[in-house]
Amino acid sequence: MADLAAGGPQHVAIIMDGNGRWARARGRPRGFGHRAGGRAARAIIEHASDIGLPALTLYAFSSENWRRPASEVSLLMELLLGTLRKELNEFHRRGARLRFIGDRSRFSPDLREEMSRGEALTATNAGLCLNIALGYGAQQDLTRVMRELAAEVAAGRLRAEDINEARIAARLALGELPDVDLFVRTGGEVRLSNFLLWELAYTELYFSQTYWPDFGPADLDAAIDWYRGRERRFGMVEASACS
Ligand code: IPE
Ligand code: IPE
Ligand code: MG
Repeated sequence: MADLAAGGPQHVAIIMDGNGRWARARGRPRGFGHRAGGRAARAIIEHASDIGLPALTLYAFSSENWRRPASEVSLLMELLLGTLRKELNEFHRRGARLRFIGDRSRFSPDLREEMSRGEALTATNAGLCLNIALGYGAQQDLTRVMRELAAEVAAGRLRAEDINEARIAARLALGELPDVDLFVRTGGEVRLSNFLLWELAYTELYFSQTYWPDFGPADLDAAIDWYRGRERRFGMVEASACS
């Protein structure tokens, strides 16, 4: 099991990709992969909570995933609602604090209600900070922040020269959370797909060939071990060269 005390990440963000290909490899419909992907997500959340990871952000549905066939979108919505209804009490029992990031205006009233219920129920919990990106796109999030800042400048409440990185970061959907230390994408693609563009500025990027339904706790531990071996320089020189 990963030992987070020894220089482990404080915040892990995961693009859970590969459900469709996992199902296709088994001659099954994509929905079969999404169901298996839901079970994999639950196992990773439980493991993150068990190893004491402070924050986990999971990409479950992107703003661009609305472009998928209506039948797949509605199946995903059904699965999300079912999973939330089923797992919410367990997340709460574990002390997780649940939060959704993304534009929820296109989701059904039922799903929106369940999302709000989950956030309210777990709001004061002190365990794993679990963020689920639903209807999320980083460019849209940044655009929203820019629009808000521009409105404040126009209203005379903010000076343009007072806009800085900290002000922008604080208004992003992940706002006050620690920076993402470790990014994981499963499923073999090497791209960000509009996930956390600002927040990944200095993140360590880990790409796994494993399709998401097969990505288990041991795989997360392997990613964390890999992370621990990285030297993060943040633009400086390597540690030994400083002395
Ligand atoms: C990730 O798996 C789940 C969602 C994007 C909702 P995919 O559905 O993208 O699976 P692949 O990439 O087609 O295999
Ligand atoms: C990214 O996966 C979004 C999620 C996993 C939720 P996609 O499968 O949508 O990404 P692309 O289309 O391959 O870039
Ligand atoms: Mg995909």
